[in-house]
Amino acid sequence: MFTLTNVVPWGRSFDEYRRMFALSDDDLAGRIVGCGDGPAAFNADATRRGHRVVSCDPIYQFDTAQIDERIAATYGQILEQTRQNAGAFVWGDGIGTIEELGAVRMAAMRTFLADYQAGARDGRYVHAELPSLPFAEHAFDLALCSHFLFLYSAHLDEAFHRAALREMCRVAAEARVFPLVTLEGSRSPFVDACASDLIASGAELTIERVPYEFQRGGNEMLRVTRREAR
Ligand SMILES: C[S@@+](CC[C@H](N)C(=O)[O-])C[C@H]1O[C@@H](n2cnc3c(N)ncnc32)[C@H](O)[C@@H]1O
Repeated sequence: MFTLTNVVPWGRSFDEYRRMFALSDDDLAGRIVGCGDGPAAFNADATRRGHRVVSCDPIYQFDTAQIDERIAATYGQILEQTRQNAGAFVWGDGIGTIEELGAVRMAAMRTFLADYQAGARDGRYVHAELPSLPFAEHAFDLALCSHFLFLYSAHLDEAFHRAALREMCRVAAEARVFPLVTLEGSRSPFVDACASDLIASGAELTIERVPYEFQRGGNEMLRVTRREAR
């Protein structure tokens, strides 16, 4: 069962999403689904800018107060762990210190929390989880997954990754995943197997360097395009 005590909420900003996924104005003009967006500010800020984003995540079964409480309970621990592991991150470019990291993450999560109730009512925050999403085939132009697939390779097996990526490609014409490294900072052992599986399913894919790196070595994105979608 999915419980909040299993989750360590940590949300990134719209600008980080833009750089992690090399999002162009054209990309942002399409219908986007964010898989595992959690308490990120991407949906809230994209909506404010007039874009169409739906986010799905198992934490959306909880209400604002419950998520807020979990953020308060874990925020200090995450910053302390990061402080102890500071060499694994690239400091600078907007996040120069632990204090700045805390401020950027908390601002993003506050933006999410302020938007969450209205967004859920409007169908922008959907309680759902990979590898099975409640969306029609081709419902979106672009499916994004930030800091979930590949990152948790020690917790989610190869079969899960393959099924999740195929599902993202079912609901969207193109899927992008960032980063390709695990929590330990090495390339996920599932990248190659997923790539072969997606190619076998008729998709085309590229691995691209993007203008974002915070976790050291986490600077590449997987882009998967369905051949018939082009
Ligand atoms: C590290 S957070 C990343 C949040 C956000 N994408 C970001 O980059 O700021 C990972 C998210 O994956 C979500 N998650 C866990 N299991 C999931 C599943 N089966 N499908 C989709 N999301 C899941 C968690 O609830 C959490 O919000």
